[in-house]
Amino acid sequence: MHEPVMLEETIRGLRPEFARRMVDATIGGAGHAEALLARMGPEGQLLGMDTDPVAVRRAAERLAEFGSRVILRQGCFSDLKVVLAEIGWAHVDGVLMDLGVSSFQLDDAERGFSFRLDGPLDMRMDPSAGLRAADLVNKLPERDFAALLRQYGDEPRAGRIARAIVRRRERQAFERTLDLAACVAAAVGGRRGAARHPATRTFLALRIAVNRELDELVAGLEAAWTALGSGGRLAVLTFHSLEDRIVKHFMRDQVRGESPRGRLLTPKGETPSDAERRRNPRARSARLRVLEKLEQEERSNDAVPGQS
Ligand SMILES: C[S@@+](CC[C@H](N)C(=O)[O-])C[C@H]1O[C@@H](n2cnc3c(N)ncnc32)[C@H](O)[C@@H]1O
Repeated sequence: MHEPVMLEETIRGLRPEFARRMVDATIGGAGHAEALLARMGPEGQLLGMDTDPVAVRRAAERLAEFGSRVILRQGCFSDLKVVLAEIGWAHVDGVLMDLGVSSFQLDDAERGFSFRLDGPLDMRMDPSAGLRAADLVNKLPERDFAALLRQYGDEPRAGRIARAIVRRRERQAFERTLDLAACVAAAVGGRRGAARHPATRTFLALRIAVNRELDELVAGLEAAWTALGSGGRLAVLTFHSLEDRIVKHFMRDQVRGESPRGRLLTPKGETPSDAERRRNPRARSARLRVLEKLEQEERSNDAVPGQS
C-alpha cells in the first residue's frame, strides 16, 4: 500500500474541516483523499483525478464508503479545467497535488518504472497515451538524449551514458528495464555499496520526459489556482528539485507585486519529520508548499491607491 507522505502536515495546510469542495488531482492510492474526506463535513465533496486508470479504480474501491461525496475521473492536470466545468464546480476550497508516482506503480514490474524489477521499458502513467520510454531510448539522437539526461535527471555523466546507449542500440534495441539499467551501470561504473543505483537519474529523467511531467505541472498549477475561490488553499508535494523550483516560483509570483493574489503558508516549504524519513524512504526528498488565495477585499486593500 502507498503510504501518504506528510499526511498530517498536508491536512493541516488544507484545512478540510472548513472546505465544501476539494480536489485531489493525484488521487493515487487515495490515502490523502481518504483523510481529507474523513475530516470534511458530511456535505463535503471531493473530486479525485489521476492520469493512471489503475489508480482511479483502486481509489474507487477505497473510497466507496463515502458514496456520492466522491467524484472520480481519469485525467491529467491539463484536463482539470474541463473536468471542473463538466461537473459544474466554478470554485473549490482546496486542491492537493502530490507529485510523482505511487508505490503500486513502482512495484508493478509491468509498468517499467523500476530499475530493480525486470519489465517492459514503458513508464507511461497513462498506458494508453504517448511514447514509451523504449521509444525515446531507441530513437532519440545521441545529443538530444544526453540533453534529456542533463535537463531532467541532472546527470553529470550524461554524455557517457548517451554514447553507451546509442552504441548498444545499433546492435540491439532496448526493450527491458534491467537491460537499460545494466547498460548505464556498465557505462559509468558503480561504487560497490553506493546508496544510489547508477541508473537512478537516467530512469528519473526518462519518466519525466515520457509523462511530460514539468509541462503538466505548470498546467496543473495554473488550473488549480484559477479554480480556487477566495480563501482557498493549494498544497503541492514535490520530490525533486526541478519540480520544487517550478512550484516555488509559481507560488512566489502569486504573492509578489503591488497587489498580491496569495499568501504563502509555508515560506520555505515544509519537510518531513525525522520519524517519517526513517519510516518511509519515499518521503526523504519530499517538500510541501501551501499557498492561500486572498479574499478579494484583502487584495484591494493591499493595492496602492491610485494605481490599478
Ligand atoms: C504520489 S502519487 C499520489 C498518492 C496519493 N496522494 C495517496 O495518498 O495515495 C501520485 C499520483 O499522481 C498521478 N499523476 C502524476 N502526474 C499526473 C498528472 N499530470 N495528472 C494526473 N495525475 C498524475 C500518478 O499516476 C500517481 O498515481
